Amino acid sequence: MGSPPDTSKTSKLERYNSYLRRLNSAKLISASSKLLFRFTLLATILLIVLLTLHYPVPFLSHSSHPSSSSSFTSPHRSLLSSSLPLESIRRSATPSRSNGLSVLVTGAAGFVGTHCSLALNKRGDGVLGLDNFNSHLYDPSLKRHRQSLLASHSILVLDADINDSRLLSLLFASFPFSHVLHLAAQAGVRYAAKNPHSYIHSNVAGLVTLFESAAKAADPQPAIVWASSSSVYGLNKNSPFSESHTTDRPASLYAATKKAGEAIAHTYNHIYGLSITGLRFFTVYGPMGRPDMAYFFFTKAILAGKPITIFRSPDGKDVARDFTYIDDVVKGCLGALDTAKPSTGRPGGGPKTGPAQLRIYNLGNTSPVPVAKLVSILEKLLGTKAKKNIITMPSNGDVPFTHANVSLAAKDFGYRPTTNLSSGLSKFVNWYVNYYGIKLKTSTGATEAA
Ligand SMILES: *[C@@H]1O[C@H](CO)[C@@H](O)[C@H](O)[C@H]1NC(C)=O
Ligand SMILES: *[C@@H]1O[C@H](CO)[C@@H](O)[C@H](O)[C@H]1NC(C)=O
Ligand SMILES: *[C@@H]1O[C@H](CO)[C@@H](O)[C@H](O)[C@H]1NC(C)=O
Repeated sequence: MGSPPDTSKTSKLERYNSYLRRLNSAKLISASSKLLFRFTLLATILLIVLLTLHYPVPFLSHSSHPSSSSSFTSPHRSLLSSSLPLESIRRSATPSRSNGLSVLVTGAAGFVGTHCSLALNKRGDGVLGLDNFNSHLYDPSLKRHRQSLLASHSILVLDADINDSRLLSLLFASFPFSHVLHLAAQAGVRYAAKNPHSYIHSNVAGLVTLFESAAKAADPQPAIVWASSSSVYGLNKNSPFSESHTTDRPASLYAATKKAGEAIAHTYNHIYGLSITGLRFFTVYGPMGRPDMAYFFFTKAILAGKPITIFRSPDGKDVARDFTYIDDVVKGCLGALDTAKPSTGRPGGGPKTGPAQLRIYNLGNTSPVPVAKLVSILEKLLGTKAKKNIITMPSNGDVPFTHANVSLAAKDFGYRPTTNLSSGLSKFVNWYVNYYGIKLKTSTGATEAA
């Protein structure tokens, strides 16, 4: 603030200027006033004169688009064609405790995003959520449900796409987020066969857009914690998986984009001094989880009396996963945020003042469970036998086995998973039967604790 204008700031101003001209909303002008304060008073006056000359009558009619749109380009259009709700953003993002964090959570209406946002809010941190509410992997009504739950805790989730660089830049310039928890991504290993470009859009272009805006539009630059994936270990046979193992044999496009993300993170850390922490999640499950994941659709199929398909690995062994309960993952995410050091870059993408933190952690449960065992736990909880088809796993993206070594996260932020698969699935089933209004035949177990 108050520094004399220089050429980089002038060109930055011109970028915003053209953005503002396109939107020309009275609210937005006041919204961006904070940004404009950074420039000189003269520049501010010039901008207002320009806007007044070009658009003397404010454009006031905003048609609101249906928010459940499935395309990844349309859901945030409604936000752009109207104004940013700056006051609500400020209210949501401002911490309620002193020295609280102010976190921009992307993918906030997703499974992990919702639970993390609630946990941050509960301890007094400010949260602003973004989500594009796409319907790629599952019915977005569950995302809307999570959004209402967040709203009931006064957490705002904007309909926005992370590859929207103007919106991200405007947000960063309007509010001094201390941290970004970047969870928005195209997930799922098998959906890539249907829509490969959605992975590039979210996991590569979207990630770059986020890093770019954080490096160049934010002042101060936030520290970033983002979701990588255990899938980067790919066909790695070394077990348990350690962060130091090579990850150059991804088995799916999803894994390849997460691996690319880790390389991109290195670049933004190196050049712009962004503090970046990547978290490799291992098969996260629990209440409000993703319907496209096996434990979820197995539950649905078992209750409907429909057959389920269980994979055997090509060498005849059981397929096993290091299933990790959501509460454990949330603790890991908050631990990573709390131990993240500030970024060292200068606002506007100037040279960094020194090396910034760059970290990668496994967040798993450390005890792989065969998928057949998962099914038998579900059978008990649901009081129904599953009809099982056991087939050899096709090589379309899945890996036979995952097992996390979490000693690094344990050392650096005390990460210790405490929920085993049976108690975690019991909590999931309680939620599931409540959410879908199902009465279980079983008299013991699941519904009792609901
Ligand atoms: C991401 O956004 C940029 C503009 O910010 C655009 O040029 C690019 O096509 C988008 N990429 C994808 C994959 O949607
Ligand atoms: C787990 O990783 C740590 C390094 O983070 C290493 O020292 C340890 O030997 C690993 N444990 C196993 C069982 O591989
Ligand atoms: C799982 O955890 C619960 C609660 O801590 C415990 O009662 C149960 O014995 C554990 N089950 C297994 C298989 O370890």
